[in-house]
Amino acid sequence: TYPNLAPTPPMGWNNWSYYRCDINEKVLLDNARALVRTGLADKGYDTVTVDDCWMAKKRGPDGELVPDPEKFPHGMAYIGRKLHKMGLKFGIYEDVGTLTCGKYPGSLGHFQQDADLFARWKVDYLKADGCNVPVPPGSTKEETFHDLYRQQSRALEASGRDITFSVSAPAYFQFAGDRVWHKVIRWSAELGNLWRSGRDIALETDSPAKKWSSIVTNFGYNAGLAGLQRPGRWNDPDFLLAGGTGLTRDEMQSQMSLWAVMAAPLISSTDLSDLSPAAREVLGNKRVIAVDQDPLGVQGEVVRKGDGFAVLSKPLANGDRVIALFNSGDTPRTLSTTAEAAGLPDAGPYLVRDLVTGRAHHSGGDIVAKDVPPHATVLYRVSAAY
Ligand code: DGJ
Repeated sequence: TYPNLAPTPPMGWNNWSYYRCDINEKVLLDNARALVRTGLADKGYDTVTVDDCWMAKKRGPDGELVPDPEKFPHGMAYIGRKLHKMGLKFGIYEDVGTLTCGKYPGSLGHFQQDADLFARWKVDYLKADGCNVPVPPGSTKEETFHDLYRQQSRALEASGRDITFSVSAPAYFQFAGDRVWHKVIRWSAELGNLWRSGRDIALETDSPAKKWSSIVTNFGYNAGLAGLQRPGRWNDPDFLLAGGTGLTRDEMQSQMSLWAVMAAPLISSTDLSDLSPAAREVLGNKRVIAVDQDPLGVQGEVVRKGDGFAVLSKPLANGDRVIALFNSGDTPRTLSTTAEAAGLPDAGPYLVRDLVTGRAHHSGGDIVAKDVPPHATVLYRVSAAY
């Protein structure tokens, strides 16, 4: 698929982490309306994706995919029409194996038929999962995945519709060793626009501690993959959990700030019709969104890390740098970096703007965040101060 489909990281909403298989037309459209009502759609969250379990358990008489008639009584073309009328895009889930993870029909053997159906439904975005992939004798798992995702990618192109392609393959190789994992990421970046770089983020039903640890874990593996992405081709460390129960405001903000400095897709998975003011501010902070969506399209790199902290630096199109100072430990801590380590031009002073509070200060040299609370991230935009 084509890089111009996602010149900046995709943004939107997906039901999975919050609702899992408990989805239907009403849940989807209520969340779509909430995206518009809260102003998040205007800020870029424009793609509404229905994840696993939208289908009937069997294909129809001509082998075509059939939506579950109870969950989606008006069918999927109707969902597409409704979303497009709201100015949103339509995302759908499938799997390149014989069955989806939830055991609904997979696309294997039906790639073109399904892609053509999605095009007729006016789908704009496909998330292609990798459960239940049979590996033929004589092939490796990696070769088999490569072949199937290639077939999927070609089918989307041949459908004649611009469909952003989200590849789940790397998540199935995260523990196969870095050599194979990175190889899968490299071909995912040829075939798709974004790829699930590793394991799933926690579910709404998980404990607050597990949600937080999954944010830290997904940040950790994804931060090591800078350089494998480029504009149109993005590492995806999975959903934003802001709005879910149990996370503190600092934790929600940390995830948002870290995802932004990594130029990660911003895909919320929560009940948007009942969003707390804090979650709404976190997801809707325009200064932070602008970091994520910066047209230079570079994933920030870790420039310092140690036990309980990490500092990342991301160059922006206008020459500014964004510095994220993340305290993953359980006590407050002052975090800093030298200008040189952060890649700043060596002639200070700098104008340092805190993108969460909006406050600015001048700095002569080092970039310092004092007493960062536990689990919080300070996100600075640093410009040369003339
Ligand atoms: C595994 C994926 O990683 C999740 O995001 C979700 O799509 C589930 N499969 C659905 O079964």
